[in-house]
Amino acid sequence: MKIFLTGANGQLGWELQRTIPPGITLNAFGSKELDITDQNAVAQMVATLVPDLIINAAAYTAVDNAEQNSERAFLVNGHAAGHLAQAARDNGARLIHISTDFIFDGKKSSPYLPTDPANPLGVYGKSKLLGEERILAIGKACDTTIIRTAWVYSSHGHNFVKTMLRLMQQRDALSVIADQIGTPTWAHGLAQGVWAVALKGINGVHHWTDAGTASWYDFAIAIMEEARALGLLSRQPSIRPIPTSDYPLPAQRPPYSVLDKASLWQALTLNPSHWRVELRKMLTEMK
Ligand SMILES: NC(=O)c1ccc[n+]([C@@H]2O[C@H](COP(=O)([O-])OP(=O)(O)OC[C@H]3O[C@@H](n4cnc5c(N)ncnc54)[C@H](OP(=O)(O)O)[C@@H]3O)[C@@H](O)[C@H]2O)c1
Repeated sequence: MKIFLTGANGQLGWELQRTIPPGITLNAFGSKELDITDQNAVAQMVATLVPDLIINAAAYTAVDNAEQNSERAFLVNGHAAGHLAQAARDNGARLIHISTDFIFDGKKSSPYLPTDPANPLGVYGKSKLLGEERILAIGKACDTTIIRTAWVYSSHGHNFVKTMLRLMQQRDALSVIADQIGTPTWAHGLAQGVWAVALKGINGVHHWTDAGTASWYDFAIAIMEEARALGLLSRQPSIRPIPTSDYPLPAQRPPYSVLDKASLWQALTLNPSHWRVELRKMLTEMK
């Protein structure tokens, strides 16, 4: 199977490249090799390589910066997703696109189903929703998969786990938001999920995160405990739970964004691990 991967230098793109299943030929592009906002370049590259499947792991993921830089966010996350869908359609390729829990407003108190109505609170979520809409409007239903995920981290790239580890080395006390609930997700497991979707040819809109739920505060506590147990961290700063209102940021986040994964877990006959088990694996790898 010939695969065309965008976002090769990102967390997920990197994990996809180190988990390639046998029998896959991968052409992977960072933004320097292929700017997905350039529709002609996308069309030409896809027409030249004629892949069986395009995986779009590229995105403008700077959630707070997106508030000021909305034009770029909509271009990359919205319109460029449409360019990839068009190129896939023109060349008879399937498309797997990655989206986000931030398309929801977080007003529910039970896990979001793939069919629940979207109502993003910020520019990033709105731009990712536009991407989903463009893809579903352009792509053939039988050739199109959207996988929404959340709270992604990896040993490669910038993320909450690495930020917390750095701050825990430097500070005696930290304050972490305790009233936003979601699910931390190791990009490595997500990558394996994406490959399973690719190989099984699953279509439609689905959710993938690790199992369980946490607040950012719970996540920070777990990072400290697991890192200390592994000998990655010798210090033990105090961690104080705070409300979102005590840590104002430019972009509003959904207060609850746990995703219901049942459709994908059933289709893949998989039992994903609890997020804390995955965190331990990632930290073990960092060690
Ligand atoms: N991170 C999270 O917590 C999270 C949560 C929910 C959903 N998601 C979704 O999961 C997917 C993967 O996220 P991630 O964490 O792996 O993101 P990431 O680490 O920020 O990587 C995104 C990659 O997109 C590439 N990119 C940006 N603009 C581009 C352009 N115009 N043309 C081509 N490539 C471009 C960047 O490439 P270069 O580095 O080469 O410039 C970057 O490496 C995204 O769709 C994201 O929206 C992420």
